[in-house]
Amino acid sequence: YRRLRVALLGAGAVGSQVASLLRQHADELADRAGARLELVGIAVRDVDAKRDVDLPRELFTTDADSLIVGSDIVIELMGGIEPAREYLLHAINSGADIVTANKALLATHGPEIFDAADQVGAEVYYEAAAAGAIPIIRPLRDSLAGDRVQRIMGIVNGTTNYILDRMDTEGAEFSDVLADAQRLGYAEADPTADVEGYDAAQKAAILASLAFHTTVPLDAVHREGITSIDKSMMDAARHAGYVIKLLAVCERLTEASGESISVRVYPALIDRAHPLASVHGANNAVFVQAEAAGNLMFYGAGAGGVQTASAVLGDVVSAARRHIAGGVGVGESTLANLPIVPVGRV
Ligand code: HSE
Repeated sequence: YRRLRVALLGAGAVGSQVASLLRQHADELADRAGARLELVGIAVRDVDAKRDVDLPRELFTTDADSLIVGSDIVIELMGGIEPAREYLLHAINSGADIVTANKALLATHGPEIFDAADQVGAEVYYEAAAAGAIPIIRPLRDSLAGDRVQRIMGIVNGTTNYILDRMDTEGAEFSDVLADAQRLGYAEADPTADVEGYDAAQKAAILASLAFHTTVPLDAVHREGITSIDKSMMDAARHAGYVIKLLAVCERLTEASGESISVRVYPALIDRAHPLASVHGANNAVFVQAEAAGNLMFYGAGAGGVQTASAVLGDVVSAARRHIAGGVGVGESTLANLPIVPVGRV
């Protein structure tokens, strides 16, 4: 196989799992991608910081720019706007394809990043930027490209769903469960982003932009968090047959004067019979209503290091396939030669 140089920026909850899985499944990923994915280095702020998984020390560097130069694929999992933006632009202009989970960056500087990539024929993959492990970017961008999405109702923040779920099912207090969400690696570095709805608003902007084939700027997203929700509100909702969930709603509005889009994040009362009411823990779900397809629901782990790493690695394989196909087409995998169990044996 041809070797592709893969640079990783960031080794937090998701980054360290990506590095570990890239190494652990190297042979299988090579077959899938049609190229060996060689992790050439991991750029971090502090080489000696404690990581979630053991990785060879020689992989780490504080010099992201040198690592980027000569890489075929750059994975950015640092989060935040700067220096992530600067590094991604550098990677694009150095000829790399990029994989990122950076919802804050894409929601605020998406057009700048996408335009830069278009200019040099690079590709930007970001399946992990919304709803963790759940495939939702490709379905909205590709699978539903022939349809008209009318509305998305999403639980797109794992931390707040975990908090609200435990308040609902155990009568737990907000502050106690927030500490658990942080300990379990669901919350952002600054959990204000989760509990005040900023994280969900960023994801809503990304999903709405894809669903409605436009650019929805972050400041056009109405945002409310969950910090004012207390036990008595949870109880009142339960007695009335509802559950409170932080919802991201992206909606196409049709009026006599024409069509418009509304995107909003707020704690909503969900009827307990609705499928979104059964989304527990740090799971996410995205309920999509499309004109021809009808109702679709995407469900799964919305946060967590190894779960989100799955979406990142899928993007890395896609980038590698495109790379070896010369920037066109989807490339080919080698089929795994697994025996098929005869019918009746299991
Ligand atoms: N803090 C985020 C969440 C992580 O809780 O959903 C995934 O984006």
